[in-house]
Amino acid sequence: MTLFPSSTQDIPPVGGVPRHIAIIMDGNGRWAKKRFMPRVAGHRRGVETVREIIGACVERGVAYLTLFAFSSENWRRPKEEVNFLMQLFLRALEEEVAKLHENGIRFRIIGDLSRFDPQIVSLIQRGEALTAANARLTLTIAANYGGRWDILQAIEKMLAVRPDKRAGFTEQDLATHLALDYGPEPDLFIRTGGEQRISNFLLWQLAYSEFYFTDTLWPEFDAASLDLAIESYRRRERRFGRTSEQLQARSALALPEDAIPPVATRENA
Ligand code: IPE
Ligand code: IPE
Ligand code: MG
Repeated sequence: MTLFPSSTQDIPPVGGVPRHIAIIMDGNGRWAKKRFMPRVAGHRRGVETVREIIGACVERGVAYLTLFAFSSENWRRPKEEVNFLMQLFLRALEEEVAKLHENGIRFRIIGDLSRFDPQIVSLIQRGEALTAANARLTLTIAANYGGRWDILQAIEKMLAVRPDKRAGFTEQDLATHLALDYGPEPDLFIRTGGEQRISNFLLWQLAYSEFYFTDTLWPEFDAASLDLAIESYRRRERRFGRTSEQLQARSALALPEDAIPPVATRENA
């Protein structure tokens, strides 16, 4: 059993501040190009935005922040850019993890670590262990992450521990093996840089997230931009399959979310 309700099996709790924000940090290259700088200058500037957005999420009481830093497809980029990104990741791990810990932030990585340098892998493991008990914000960096990889690795893990599930399994069986099994599904998904696509990010977990796209390039995204996204989120009506009338009746009666019967599933039908 996962600790968090699945959006297709239950109605997750909904509040004014998104509990989990997931971001595709896009537009670094274009930001640099606009300034006649090499693409990598945009990546360097992007790290500063990461710091600012982590701080802003802590201040706003967001509990989970998940950032897409490197996709399983980004290996297709020029070798020099990939090497630069790896160096940047290594340096960030060396320099930032202690600061995250001082600030009470739990640090996690999701993605296929098998392609990373052993030095990076060991820094990740040490960082995760050091910050494991922190509860202020869970910061997840998706590195060499792909949504399809995540689903496949979950199936493999599940079958390794439960070979009997080959005969059939539920969403819940699988969800406990997904990379983000320690957190709720994202409430708010943000993509900067103008593109309106998922690019193989959290395919499973974004099932009922609210999507927010902005043309702002990642190096220019700041706390005020985050507030605009949260404001937009607050104006949404999250229906999870129900009708608007059902939601209005519930709020008129001031009923809690769990007063609505759970969705009928194969298990409880
Ligand atoms: C996002 O910025 C960072 C990574 C994918 C690592 P991009 O590098 O994709 O920037 P654009 O999209 O080319 O502007
Ligand atoms: C998605 O950005 C991955 C990250 C932000 C790490 P890309 O810029 O690589 O996405 P596509 O390939 O343009 O969709
Ligand atoms: Mg891009």
